[in-house]
Amino acid sequence: MPALLLRFPPQAMSDNLSEASRLFHRVGGAATFDALVRAFYDGVMDDPDLAPMYPSEDIEGAIWRLSHFLQQYFGGPTTYSEQRGHPRLRMRHAAFAINPHAKERWLVHMRAAVTTLNLAPMDESELSNYLESAALSMVNTFEA
Ligand code: HEM
Repeated sequence: MPALLLRFPPQAMSDNLSEASRLFHRVGGAATFDALVRAFYDGVMDDPDLAPMYPSEDIEGAIWRLSHFLQQYFGGPTTYSEQRGHPRLRMRHAAFAINPHAKERWLVHMRAAVTTLNLAPMDESELSNYLESAALSMVNTFEA
């Protein structure tokens, strides 16, 4: 049998399966996502508009949830869904009033956290583009 058939699907095809699946490894794996989310929560918990929304008694839990969600999204281990089920992020955020101002504050802290990672420009864009559009999709009220 020609070697070509034995190697189906070709490597190039499996590499193309998901652009996101490679970012997790390219940027340094779990440690990078933990650093990102810790830097993000440092900002959030000092923010008078956002901090009251978050569980101050369970920040380690919140760090675990966001870090593992992002790891999974970008092609890392699927531990988040194994432990928390389907992400259903819009639904999970329904309990919080997220207006455009809250979304902007969230992004201020996330952008600052992303900058601390000093990623390669392409990786930084891929990560940032996702975070920006996901944040926009989480807005669920226009009330102040
Ligand atoms: C737009 C502004 C946003 C606000 C104000 C917000 C607020 C919150 C709050 C208050 C929690 C509860 C903290 C906890 O106990 O885990 C939470 C959880 C979470 N958020 Fe957001 N969030 C926003 C955007 C996002 C975005 C863009 C993402 C994803 C890229 C995201 C992913 C998550 C995840 C994965 C959890 C934990 C869900 C769970 O497993 O229970 N959030 N968010």
